[in-house]
Order: sequence, then C-alpha cells, then structure tokens
Amino acid sequence: MAKNIGILTSGGDCPGLNAAIRAVGKAAQDAFGMRVIGFLNGFRGLVQDQTMELESRMLSGILTDGGTILGTSRDKPHRMKVGGKECDMTGAIVDTYHRHQLEALVCLGGGGTQKNALRLHEAGLHILTLPKTIDNDIALTDLSFGFDTAVGIATEAIDRLHSTATSHNRIILVEVMGHRAGWLALEAGVAGGADIILIPEIPYDLVQVAKAIRERSRKGKHFSIVVVAEGAMSREDAKYVGKLVSQKEKARGKIGRKKISEELQRFHDGHVGHTIHLTRKLEELTQQESRLTILGHLQRGGTPSAADRVLATRLGTKCAECLENGRYGVMLAVQGDDIVPVPLEKVVKQKKLVPANHALIHSARLVGTHFGD
Ligand code: F6P
Repeated sequence: MAKNIGILTSGGDCPGLNAAIRAVGKAAQDAFGMRVIGFLNGFRGLVQDQTMELESRMLSGILTDGGTILGTSRDKPHRMKVGGKECDMTGAIVDTYHRHQLEALVCLGGGGTQKNALRLHEAGLHILTLPKTIDNDIALTDLSFGFDTAVGIATEAIDRLHSTATSHNRIILVEVMGHRAGWLALEAGVAGGADIILIPEIPYDLVQVAKAIRERSRKGKHFSIVVVAEGAMSREDAKYVGKLVSQKEKARGKIGRKKISEELQRFHDGHVGHTIHLTRKLEELTQQESRLTILGHLQRGGTPSAADRVLATRLGTKCAECLENGRYGVMLAVQGDDIVPVPLEKVVKQKKLVPANHALIHSARLVGTHFGD
C-alpha cells in the first residue's frame, strides 16, 4: 500500500517554500510511489483538518513562485488561539494524523517550527523537517532556504539607496529583518558596501556610530549607508535585556519567570521601529541629513533566487529519501557539501547567531566597515 505523507509550511513565509514542497512531493510520488497530502495554514490546518491533495498537477509550475501554496501561520500546536482562548491542540493534531493514516508529517519552517515539530515527534508522530528562514539562524545547518533570496533583495535595495544617498550627501539607514540574528544585515551589508552595519550580536554605541560617520565626512565622503538589523540594540538596551534574561534563568517558579518574560516581551514590542529614533539621533549628532528605509516584508516576497531553488530541491529530495527509509525525528541540514539528518532535540537547543569573531566581520572591518562598537 502507498504510504500517506502529510506536509505543511509554518511560521513566516519565504521564497523557496514552493520549490521545497515541489521537491518533496515529486520525489515522494514519482520516485517512491507515495501519496502526498498538504495541510493548510501551518499547524492550524492539522487541527481543523484543512487539506489539499498534492497530486502531480498541483506541483507543476510552482518552482519559481514566492510564498507557499499551502498557506502558513505562526500557530503553535500546544498554544493555539481557539475561540479567543489559548488551548493545547496537540491531541487534535494527533487525531488528524491518524485519521489520514499518515506514515509521516513533513514540516517546513524556521526555529519556532522546529520546536513545534519536536513536540509532535515527542507525542509519537513520525516527523521530518526542512529549514527555511530569511534569518538563517537555525542551528546545525549552514544554510536555510529563503536566506539567499533575501540577501539579494536587500543588496539591491542598498545599491539603489547608494546613488540617492550620494546625490544628497545624506545618511541613509536601511532596516533589514533579523530580530535576534544579524546574518542578513551582515551579508547584504557587505555585498552592498555598507559603511556601518549594526547587528543584534554586536551592541552599538551611538556616539561611535556618529563618530564613524563624521570621520567619513572629514575624508570627503559626505554620505553614509547604515544597514541595521531590526533587532540591533544600543549597549544600554543590550545590558538591560541581558539582565532580564539572566534574571529569568535564575527565577524560581513559573510566576516569576512569566513576569520577566512579559517584561522582555514589552521591551521587544517597544523596540519595533527603533530605527526611526536612531535616524533622528544620528542626524542630531552628525548634523547631516538622515533618512530611513525599512525593507520589511519585501525581503520575504517574490520569486526565489536560483541558489534557493537549488537548495530547496536538494533538501526536499533528501527528505523524500528519508521518508522512504523511515528516518524520522530529524531536520535535514546543510553541512558543508552534504545534506544530513540532524536530531530535532539538538536543533532546538540553540539559535545560530553571528559570532563576534566571524570571518566575514573580520573582512568587513578590513575594508573599513564599522560595526558601531
Ligand atoms: O522569522 C523570519 C522573520 O522574517 C523575521 O526576520 C522577522 O522579524 C519576522 O519574521 C517577521 O514576522 P511577521 O511576518 O510575522 O511579521
């Protein structure tokens, strides 16, 4: 009997998801004779049993499409909003899985999805995952699909902003995505020749940023491009967040931890759009006209790059092979030239952040890029 395979996309969308769905689906059906059922809108589709039969014709012509034909959401199985209340819907998901007589469920997503997938694996389901995120911050994989496309989009934006910054002798700040990890800001910043790159991993000193810009002016460069990851923070803010995080680690009891988590959440909510404040401050300190461009969801839209299509195809076909061999509870990861299965428990233990001594930071510093430190 043909194996029934479920597949879903969860978390923020990104270019390459359709290429991955196509790869898993085509290989599973055509090479291994499986039946593939798509679940809609992330884990919610499993709870509500919303499906789409992914037969051959559904998988044709989607390689180059952005977004995901399955739809996505940030719903978590164990904390899903139902009728205005947060409920643990793991049981309903397990029921749907068995009702469809699934052999396995493939989850395509970022860091949050890996954690949710692990919970379902621990609930006894056969789970396989693929890494997608424009943030490139999933542990144990060198790359996630979506990242290369986003770097391309952000780099093109920086290139375009260069000419207008030069013409007006302005400082232009470019906010790119990346709450906790600065990979996108770092790579797009280096590719676009940014003068200053601010990332969450290197807390910045505003005075030093302004000094670097004034120094450029003194050398006759009357414009500056500052690439800022959305999660970049001043030293003061980073100290405050660090204090809360260590208090949370030491806190005894659920209530104490919850209070600190809420405080952290309030900080992060308030930090959204901090680049507006940063732009004003830099104008004040340098006396140079400053403007801000927030790239936002542009970075997640549109057609995937060639590299992301290739990566999604490699990951998706390897996933189909794991389905055939009954290898579950793992994420397919890129490690060097290989695609390897890594246990989900290991993936969720950490986030992949930019190390302060990363070779690309070193190279960037050597060509005169400032990191605000
Ligand atoms: O996790 C990927 C990501 O694009 C982050 O870089 C960004 O902070 C976040 O998603 C935005 O999420 P949403 O689309 O839910 O606003």
